[in-house]
Amino acid sequence: MPTVESLRQILSNVPFPGFSRDIVSTGTVTKIELEEGVVTVKLRAENTDDATRQQIAEAVRRALADQQGVSEVKVRFAGSGPRRLPVAGQPEPAPAPAPAPSSGPLARNIIGVASGKGGVGKSTVAVNLAVTLARQGRRVGFLDADVHGPSAPLMFGLEGSRPEKADANGRPLPLEAFGVKIMSMGFFVERGNAVIWRGPIVGNFIRQLLTDVAWGELDDLVIDFPPGTGDAQLTISQTIRMSGAVVVTTPNDLALIDALKAITMFRKVEIPVLGIVENMSFFVCPGCGEEHAIFGSGGADRAVRDESIPLLGRVPIDPQVVLESDKGRPVVIDRPDCPAARAYAEIAGAVVEASEAPERPQDGPASFLDRFGGE
Ligand SMILES: Nc1ncnc2c1ncn2[C@@H]1O[C@H](COP(=O)(O)OP(=O)(O)OP(=O)(O)O)[C@@H](O)[C@H]1O
Ligand SMILES: [Mg+2]
Repeated sequence: MPTVESLRQILSNVPFPGFSRDIVSTGTVTKIELEEGVVTVKLRAENTDDATRQQIAEAVRRALADQQGVSEVKVRFAGSGPRRLPVAGQPEPAPAPAPAPSSGPLARNIIGVASGKGGVGKSTVAVNLAVTLARQGRRVGFLDADVHGPSAPLMFGLEGSRPEKADANGRPLPLEAFGVKIMSMGFFVERGNAVIWRGPIVGNFIRQLLTDVAWGELDDLVIDFPPGTGDAQLTISQTIRMSGAVVVTTPNDLALIDALKAITMFRKVEIPVLGIVENMSFFVCPGCGEEHAIFGSGGADRAVRDESIPLLGRVPIDPQVVLESDKGRPVVIDRPDCPAARAYAEIAGAVVEASEAPERPQDGPASFLDRFGGE
């Protein structure tokens, strides 16, 4: 005969749609009741769209229905996503309003920088975005959510540093560089010590980096995600309300396919995609000054056109960026007038504009195309 524990075990093999984590370890399954063969599974999936809830409910039913001793499976969701109040004379409730620009006490804007594919330049975009905003006098935090391959300590010139101060409640104070408050897994482990953690532990650690750190008051929190659609993304989307995500891609088709996966993932958990950054877009020949599209072209334009996602900016290939990043000197600090730094600054402006706009520019790509010379 089944027990609550054996049913929980079965459900721990059901993935959250679009993510690598399962619905038990993410806390989506809140309770399982079993009474005379009738199983009631209680679920919590805030910030999740109706289609995804439907998918979860069906997967739960499928997983449990054939179990011996189970005669019926009931699925109950608690805590619905944001809904408009019903309007008289309107049969269906109006679609959910865009989330408020305020994201709770952590920061006014919480911006995730993500990609489907690794190595496309997310961390470089995230660091230069954060430093640019801090140079404008904003109070900026940077959360390195890549617990397996943290790069913030190196890129901010803080390698080997450890959080040494705590607030009155014993919560560590973030480290600081270039006016940005920074937290990273890299401040807690030796470099090169690969951390192999399973999903739930990764989730718990990231949750702690968000909530058990004395961030103080912030205008913006920039989150540097690991590549893909995994634990960190899901944990953060379940823990706080992000203002939006910036998806970084390179111009080629394969990177674009992965970027679209990331966009789909954010849509499933109702996080607005603020726009795309096309990194390593072109190379400006130092000899003739001409622009060359080394990694192909047009990828981001296609996403802008097909998915109605704004293009936030294009960053050229700049070999010096690699050397400067490795030395912990973001390009916007040392060469603020070079084309790459100017692109990052432009992206920072577009990101703040998009995340603070009461109406998110989800369906107005034309103006962005005009601005960046697309079709
Ligand atoms: N515009 C650019 N021009 C030249 N090199 C760049 C540019 N942007 C990033 N790079 C280099 O590309 C490499 C990958 O960049 P980065 O670490 O930012 O990518 P990522 O997407 O965060 O990678 P991961 O998926 O491993 O986290 C780094 O060596 C970085 O210095
Ligand atoms: Mg990275």
